[in-house]
Amino acid sequence: MLTVFDHPLIKHKLSIMRDKNTSTKDFRENLDEIGSLMVYEITRDLPLKDVDIETPMCPMTASRLAKDVVVVPILRAGLGMVSGITRLVPTAKVAHVGVFRDEETLEPHTYFEKYPKNIADAVTIVVDPMLATGGSSVAALDMVKKQGAKNIKLVCLVGAEDGIKNVEKHHPDVDIYLAALDDCLNENGYIVPGLGDAGDRIFGTK
Ligand code: PRP
Ligand code: URA
Repeated sequence: MLTVFDHPLIKHKLSIMRDKNTSTKDFRENLDEIGSLMVYEITRDLPLKDVDIETPMCPMTASRLAKDVVVVPILRAGLGMVSGITRLVPTAKVAHVGVFRDEETLEPHTYFEKYPKNIADAVTIVVDPMLATGGSSVAALDMVKKQGAKNIKLVCLVGAEDGIKNVEKHHPDVDIYLAALDDCLNENGYIVPGLGDAGDRIFGTK
C-alpha cells in the first residue's frame, strides 16, 4: 500500500528542502521535523498491550506499545531522518544498513549492516529521503528480511513511480509512505523536480 501524506506542515517544510538556496543547516532541520511528522502518522497502527498501573488517584489498566520499534536508516541519507523519529519513539532501536548507488549503472551496492537482536518481532521502519529507481530500498528491504524482519514499513520523503513499482514488485508486503510523489527521473536517475542529492545536502559534501 502506498500513502502520500497531504499535510500542510509537511508540504511547507519539504518546499524549503527542495529550494536549492536552502543551507545545510535548514535542510537538516526540516528533514528532522518532517521525520517526526511522518512517524506520528505511520505509527497509528502500532499494537498496544494492557498494563496495570496506579495513578495518584487509583489503579487502572492503561495502554503501552506492545512491540519494539526498529528504525533502519539507509546510509548515508537515511541518517537525517532518525532523530526526528526517535524523538517521538524514544524506545526505538536503530539498525544501520549501508547502501550506495553506483552513479553510472544506478545499481545498489551494500557495504554495512548492523542490527539489534529482536528485529524479527519488531515493527521495522526503513527510512531514506529518496526513492528513485528503488534499487537501494529494495536492497535494504532484502537485508532486513534476511534478519527475520516481517512487519516492515518504508518511509521516504520524495518518491518516483519507477521506484514505487520496483519496491511493490519485490516487496509487496511492505507499506510505502511518502511526503511527495514527484514527476519522473532524469537521465542520471535523479528525481525531478526532487531536491537534488539528499546525502550531499544533509552532510554538506558537495
Ligand atoms: C541516494 C538516496 C537513496 C538512493 C536512491 O543515496 O539516499 O539511498 O540514492 O536512489 P535509488 O532509489 O535509485 O536507489 P546515495 O546512493 O547517493 O548514497 P548516500 O546516501 O550515501 O549519498
Ligand atoms: N538520490 C538522491 O539523493 N537524489 C535523487 O534525486 C535520486 C537519488
